[in-house]
Amino acid sequence: MEKKYNLIILGASGFTGKYVVKEALKFLNTPYSPLTTLALAGRNPTKLTQALSWASHPHPPPPIPILTADTTDPQSLLHLCSQTNLILNCVGPFRVYGEPVVAACVESGCDYLDICGEPEFMERMEAVYGEKAAEKGCLVVSACGFDSVPAELGLMFNSRQWVAPAVPNRVEAYLSLESEKRLVGNFGTFESAVLGVANMEKLQELRRSRPRRARPVIPGPAPPKGAMIEHQKKVGLWAVKLPSADSVVVRRTLSILAENPRGLPGVNESAEHIQKRETFWSMVKPAHFGVEIGSKSLLGIFRFITVGMSIGLLSRTAIGRWLLLKFPSVFSLGWFRKKGPTDDEVRSASFKMWFVGQGFSNSSHVSQGNIKPDMEIITRVMGPEIGYLTTSIILLQCALILLSQRDNLPKGGAFPPGIVFGPTDLQERLQENGISFDVISKSAVPV
Ligand SMILES: NC(=O)c1ccc[n+]([C@@H]2O[C@H](COP(=O)([O-])OP(=O)(O)OC[C@H]3O[C@@H](n4cnc5c(N)ncnc54)[C@H](OP(=O)(O)O)[C@@H]3O)[C@@H](O)[C@H]2O)c1
Repeated sequence: MEKKYNLIILGASGFTGKYVVKEALKFLNTPYSPLTTLALAGRNPTKLTQALSWASHPHPPPPIPILTADTTDPQSLLHLCSQTNLILNCVGPFRVYGEPVVAACVESGCDYLDICGEPEFMERMEAVYGEKAAEKGCLVVSACGFDSVPAELGLMFNSRQWVAPAVPNRVEAYLSLESEKRLVGNFGTFESAVLGVANMEKLQELRRSRPRRARPVIPGPAPPKGAMIEHQKKVGLWAVKLPSADSVVVRRTLSILAENPRGLPGVNESAEHIQKRETFWSMVKPAHFGVEIGSKSLLGIFRFITVGMSIGLLSRTAIGRWLLLKFPSVFSLGWFRKKGPTDDEVRSASFKMWFVGQGFSNSSHVSQGNIKPDMEIITRVMGPEIGYLTTSIILLQCALILLSQRDNLPKGGAFPPGIVFGPTDLQERLQENGISFDVISKSAVPV
């Protein structure tokens, strides 16, 4: 049903929100764009107006309606949902502010996308609202930002390079953040991470209360636990495990795929799209997946470990959390700032995510008892600064797909982004907007 606005950006005054507005303006009323009507929403109209001016600079702000809505006021959220087909939610930490927004969207049957990177929020929303969203015909898709689309599409891209009889067994992603200036993130992400670590037990509790999901069938044994610090010579990085949402989001997509080997049918799919979707998923081969953060120097790794340990230890107590949130710059060794990065710092940053896949040149080797991978495929996803540029690009492209190809997407439910957007043209769209996907090498591994 046509509503007043194609989409509403909620939390448009936030650090990330204003970059999302800037990205949306690039597609508003351009030829062939499905985005013709847009509104910004939040709790403070003055800040929203300033965000619009910032986002449209150097041009004068376009006449975009500014709507007032507060996540503590469910009626304001329902009113928002009644006016639009799609909400892009940039209000975080999601564990604090997110649920009322999902509830209002599901109640109204309005589609919902966000940039959450908090596993507990995503899994809880799936548990609480998944069924109702399916009934109401509304899509709830979290993690449509740097968390976790590069990981989801990056794994699928690597796995599609394995041509039968070759099969992957494991893919390890190595994230390298680069900049000529300082690498800085905004407080919002730091706060979300601190609260996520502090509430780790709630996530475990939630998982224990949920039925077990199907496990994907992966040829060969699970990879052994490696050393805490790894020197990955192929990509020139020292690396340590990154406890981000990526690997759990990917695992959820692989579980849903195991339960639905042809993917999720669209609400009113064309025969052509059915074929495209089934062909796509037939080429995606599941693999064990992990993510590491990399640095060219060992010293860089010790900085990651120091920050990880201070968040891990201090977030357990109220006083520790107070210290972390009061002095983010101190405890993150300058990686997070209350005021976020400057425009220059954002512009000069970029990322590379290397996907090192190992597997078998012939799947029959596994059944013959040869369990050591003999083949390696390295692929790479690369793009601009992660938190504000890449995240905005991804969120907008997911939104444009939703607006233009709704019939090809599932009727409703709460899902990770990979299972919904994997078989669409999301990867091509990201490539057109500065996020590249490349095959780096295919080689034999000495057994
Ligand atoms: N997926 C990713 O890779 C990725 C990337 C970047 C950020 N994020 C996540 O996005 C979230 C936001 O981060 P940020 O740095 O942009 O934070 P931020 O600058 O603090 O922005 C938060 C936004 O939420 C709004 N807000 C707060 N409470 C509200 C309420 N009760 N009702 C309505 N709006 C409310 C704020 O409005 P006011 O302006 O009125 O205060 C502001 O617009 C975080 O959870 C972060 O982790 C994820």
